[in-house]
This record gives sequence, structure tokens and C-alpha cells, in this order.
Amino acid sequence: MTAYYLTTAIDYANGDPHLGHAYEKIGADAIARYRRLRGDDVHFLIGMDEHGQKVAQTAEAQGIEPQVLVDALADRFRAMWQRLGVSYDQFMRTTDAGHREGVRALIERIFERNPTDFYEKAYEGWYCVGCESFKQDAEIVDGKCVLHPTRTLEWVEERNWFFRLSRYADFLRQRLMERPESLQPESRRNELLALLDRGLEDVSASRSRLAWAVPFPRPLSTGESQTTYVWFDALPNYLTATGFPYGPWSDRWPAQLHVVGKDITRFHSIIWPAMLESAGLPLPERVWGHGFVLLGGERFSKSAGVRLDLDEAITRYGADAFRYFLLREVPFDGDGSFSWERFEERYNADLANAWGNLASRVISMVERYCGGVVPDGARTASDQQDAADIADYHAVMDGTRGFLLHEALKIVWQGVVRGNEYVDRRAPWKQAKDPAQRGELEITLASLVRQLARQAVLLAPFMPQKAQELWAQLGAPGTVAEQRFDALLRLDSAGWQVRKGEPLFPKEKPAA
Ligand code: MSP
Repeated sequence: MTAYYLTTAIDYANGDPHLGHAYEKIGADAIARYRRLRGDDVHFLIGMDEHGQKVAQTAEAQGIEPQVLVDALADRFRAMWQRLGVSYDQFMRTTDAGHREGVRALIERIFERNPTDFYEKAYEGWYCVGCESFKQDAEIVDGKCVLHPTRTLEWVEERNWFFRLSRYADFLRQRLMERPESLQPESRRNELLALLDRGLEDVSASRSRLAWAVPFPRPLSTGESQTTYVWFDALPNYLTATGFPYGPWSDRWPAQLHVVGKDITRFHSIIWPAMLESAGLPLPERVWGHGFVLLGGERFSKSAGVRLDLDEAITRYGADAFRYFLLREVPFDGDGSFSWERFEERYNADLANAWGNLASRVISMVERYCGGVVPDGARTASDQQDAADIADYHAVMDGTRGFLLHEALKIVWQGVVRGNEYVDRRAPWKQAKDPAQRGELEITLASLVRQLARQAVLLAPFMPQKAQELWAQLGAPGTVAEQRFDALLRLDSAGWQVRKGEPLFPKEKPAA
């Protein structure tokens, strides 16, 4: 079995889960479920980034201890991921004792292998608590961080441990050139190559006066003990989650895929591989930098007041419809907007009228004309067209062309549209009236059930519950999650006993 270890960013524990967090977790979940259907040994990691100034400030503003804040938020995030069907295998929290120890072990390992990679330096600069990073002049407009214009930049003067990132610029450039798949999509890779061309500055690896953090393993020459800069604590979570430095951590490491947003791709494709290289550890195979979900065309944030109630959005049409909408509407390699109008349109057109209707028509006809038992029927042109689509589907799901989840859904919907056209063209209700057409009727219905069963499998990564409901209504054996792609084209539905249930996507909009 091929091991497939994939991760998402760990979310800052400074507020409730929002649409952007959900988009990333749902997207990564679709990839994890896809890999399981390929038969891979998947390990899917998500979690919380619980240290740093941002978390400490939020706790202070609420008048509670940081640990109380992060414990409550971890519960809220986990409940949200369960509600959305995010099938993670491990939930990492950077306040876990094992993680704290792993971070220190990694830093020590760098000290041992490359003793000059950490050095002390007095430093001053503008720090953005929103980004949890120092900002260069080019990233500051009107005295504000371009990414967090509602926050005030802090002027910081400190003596810190620095990491010699500049030393790794050539190494990183060469890797991006030789292994283009190590950072996708192409647009993100080009961005980072341009950044590397401008040269890399060393980065601070420790902070003074920040108590809510992992202690940095070595004191400064002045004797001062400092804490670990939050990104040097956060990035290693992918490694410490494997148990590093104990046990068989190298059975799982390196990760096959890190799924992160475009705002933090540079941390994952520059600082993280440089740290690993410095520690003499293998680098993750791929980083995918997805785009942003916008609201009404704007970046939303607590501070800017542009937001959407996630619970309300899920309640409207259910978790699977929400997953479908986000992944269909917002290209996974770019940005897109959430709007209630588009959500309603897609729910009605794609889910209720196209897919849901195809399923209910076909199952009703098998009940009416065949006593509920799916007939045997020769393969048709539809099976061949589906086979061609399935090859395209894999190319956009397995990384060959990137992780173009929206394209995968588009491809499956071509099949859904063809299915509805096939019903209209073959008019099984006419075939059923003429006993001489019995064989044709059986071919029609058998072909349609096979198409629906394949759609259930192809859509299971996106809408796991609805795919299972359809699978059960078709009378298919086992569960949809147990299926394997390599058996999909041989799938034979003859003899299944259909059981019509509730419509997959009721047309009436439930009261919001
Ligand atoms: N804690 C850091 C990540 C550390 S990873 C070692 C962080 N946290 S975050 O809570 O700000 O963001 C978590 C993830 O959500 C990031 O990948 C980020 O890009 C993503 N998103 C936050 N807002 C988003 C949108 N509006 N749209 C899509 N994803 C966005 O960064």
C-alpha cells in the first residue's frame, strides 16, 4: 500500500472556525478521501496553532488564561470538522507535550548538524501580529501590513536567535526548478521563484518577552532564555505529529502533501524546507497553495467585520451541499466568492435538478418496470464516455495536473448531464410499453444504474454522506467508502435491489 500523509495548515486558536478554514479543510478532506478510494494508506493531519502573540493577546482581551482559550477553541474546531465530515486521522495541538518536545529536538538537531545556522543578532523591525511575522517595507502600505490593514504594526527591538535562511536560497531555487511538483499551482511557484531571485533574509527564530510559546532550547550568550518564534513552533507540527524524535517517525515522514493557503505558502516552501535541510531531514514531497474564499469579493476577517456564519451556511442545505458548493464554486488553484445567490442557484440546478433528479428518476423506473431489481444489460457508449471522463478526473485529483477539485466536479457533472439526456433520448417509459423493447429497456436501465453508481464513487470524496445515501438506494453492496477506483470500470450492477429513499436534495428550501 502506498503511504499518503497529507496535512492542512494548523489554524490559529484566536477565534472560531471561519469560511476560509473550512474551505481548506474540506478541500484537503476531498483529497484524503480520494486517496483512500485509490487504496492508499492515508494519514490525514489537521490541528491548531496555539502559541504566539496573537493567541496570547486574544486570551488577555477575554480575561482568561491562554490554555483555557485554546482548549475551548480546539473543541469548537473539532466539532465543526465533524459537522462538515472532515475525516482527519489525527488532530495536532501545538500545546501537546509531545509537540513541544519535538520542536526542541528539531532545533537541537539543527544546532548539532549545522552549528552556524543559528546565530545571535540584535534586530529591529515592524512586526504584524496578524501574520505573526516581521514585515519588509514592500509589505507595508500607509503604515499597515497589506494583509492585515486593520491591525497596528508593532515596532520590535530585540536580541534574538536568527536562522541563516539566506544560506538556503540556491538550494531552494534548485529544488523548485528540478521538482516543479514540489510547489503547485504554477502561479505560486513562479511567485516564490521571483521572491528567491530578490534574495532571502535571515529570520528571527526566537522571541524575548513572549511567555506563551515553546521555550527555545538554548539561552542567548547573555544568559537570557527566550521562547521559540511561533512559525518555528508551528511548521514542525507536521513532523512532531509522527512522534519525532521518538518511535518509528520515519515510517511516516516525509509528508506527501501540505495543503495551505496562498498567504502562507512561502513559509511552507522556503522556511520549512530550509529548516528540514539544515536538520538533515527529508523534505515534504509537495506543497499545494490554494486560493482564498472571498465574501462579496472582499477578504473577510473578524476585524474587518466582513463575515459569514458558518453554522448558518451549513444548516441551509446540509454539510454535503455546502462542501459541494465551495469546492465547485471556488477554484482550488485560485480565488472565488461565496454568495447566497450562487449557493441557491447551484443547489437547485446542479444538486436538486440534475444529480438528485437523475437518481430519483432511475431508481423509480427500476422499481416500476423491473420490480426493483437492476437488470443485466450490455455496456453502452455511456460506459465508454464515462471511462474517458474518469481518466480526466484522476488527472485533476492525483496531482498530475495539480489538485483541481473544481475541475473534477465539472467532469463528473458532464456525466450527470449526459445521464439525463440519455434518459430523455431512450425514453424508457416508452420502451416499457412495448414488450418487443424489453431488451432495450433493460440496457437503458442497467446503463443508468452503472452511471449513477460510478458517480456515487467519484463524488464520495466531495459529498461523502450523499454518495453513501445514493449507494444504499441503488442497493449496491458494502459502503461507497470501501470501493476502489481500479474496480470502477468493471462495476456490474445486475441484480442489485434498489430502495428508493428520501430525495437526495429536497427541492423545497428548508426554512433558514
Ligand atoms: N497558524 C497559521 C498556519 C500555520 S501552518 C504551520 C495560520 N493560521 S490561520 O488560522 O490564519 O489560517 C489557517 C489556514 O486557513 C491557512 O492555510 C490560511 O491560508 C487559510 N485561510 C484563512 N483565510 C482564508 C480564506 N479566506 N480562504 C481560504 N483559506 C484561507 O495561518
